[in-house]
Amino acid sequence: MKKIPLLDLRRGFQEIEEDIFRGFKEVFRSMRVLNGPNVEALEREWAEYLGVKYAFGCSCGTSALIMALIAVGIKRGDEVLVQANAFIADFEAIYFVGAEPIFLDIDPTNFGPDLDDLKHKITPQTKALILVHMYGYPCEMDDILEVCQKHNIILIEDASHAHGAEYKGKKVGSFGKVGCFSCGPVKNFNAIGDAGMVVTNDEKIAFKLRYLRVHGQVEKNHSHFPGFNSRLDELQAVILRARLKSLDQKNEKRREIAQYYTENLRGIGDLYLPPLDPPYRKSVYHRYMIGSSQREKLVNFLREKGIETGYYYPIPLHQQKAYLDLFNKRWHLPTAEKLSKELLAIPIYPELTSEEIEYIVSTIREFFN
Ligand SMILES: Cc1ncc(COP(=O)(O)O)c(C=O)c1O
Repeated sequence: MKKIPLLDLRRGFQEIEEDIFRGFKEVFRSMRVLNGPNVEALEREWAEYLGVKYAFGCSCGTSALIMALIAVGIKRGDEVLVQANAFIADFEAIYFVGAEPIFLDIDPTNFGPDLDDLKHKITPQTKALILVHMYGYPCEMDDILEVCQKHNIILIEDASHAHGAEYKGKKVGSFGKVGCFSCGPVKNFNAIGDAGMVVTNDEKIAFKLRYLRVHGQVEKNHSHFPGFNSRLDELQAVILRARLKSLDQKNEKRREIAQYYTENLRGIGDLYLPPLDPPYRKSVYHRYMIGSSQREKLVNFLREKGIETGYYYPIPLHQQKAYLDLFNKRWHLPTAEKLSKELLAIPIYPELTSEEIEYIVSTIREFFN
């Protein structure tokens, strides 16, 4: 039987192997494993790629989010808005700076926050919005920016699913005060281990971000403010520099696969397909999410046929024990709740063969027949 994993990180490694091993050799010969030239170069390259002034490597996406909230001055008593379908790290970052998460229902045309709900939940305590470009779909930025400007809300983007995605020709992650990226192993722009990037155009925020990663040590042994240890190391920077060279090409391949899925899965059963890109939006399909009221049966059927699927995420943030045990508020967010029960990810990585893609489509069709 064919076996198609949800993601196969072994594929696609060979093409960058030489670059990586050459880079590793230099790192090992110099033994500059932290604060070295590859991190510095990657920061320049990532800033240029996104069209922002400052980019900083850090240990992971979670620390990027925490540093972003600290750097823009979020503190105890502040409210931070966030989509209920986001990843748990988005909640954790808000919690660990002492603020309160205010959960938003979602807009199923882009998996971003529902605009009416967003406007409705703003209070005098609202200080920031963490906007997550879920699955690689850019959120509706014109609307979001208008609301943020009108209500003086600081926009923090979490573009961990959306490296290279564009809205009206501009890369996501470059719209907000701070843009956060996980570059963990399963992401479109991925290290082979934990890694993250955090970006901004604001000089003062850049100063904070630069030194938050190193205990606030603006000079060696002189901590100007409390920070932590959240550095990106040279080995992961070597890998990310090699990956960056083909990121656009790989994202293009994902778009081609997505288009094939959408054209060939349209109109079967109660199958829900992800929203199509309007002309001004360029998604990068970190995940291709389909949905069905028969999700468990479909997942089991696909598993029996050798196709692995995944849930992102089966429990919305406002229903996580981590939240419920700490806060007394309870939320009803019908779209986020419904989609958490119905969505599933099918394989979509650039190295899938056309035979595998066709097999995935025909197997899904077979289920509904
Ligand atoms: C949307 C989103 N934000 C943040 C994170 C956290 O990133 P990391 O695992 O690098 O800490 C993830 C990780 O999967 C994520 O998917």
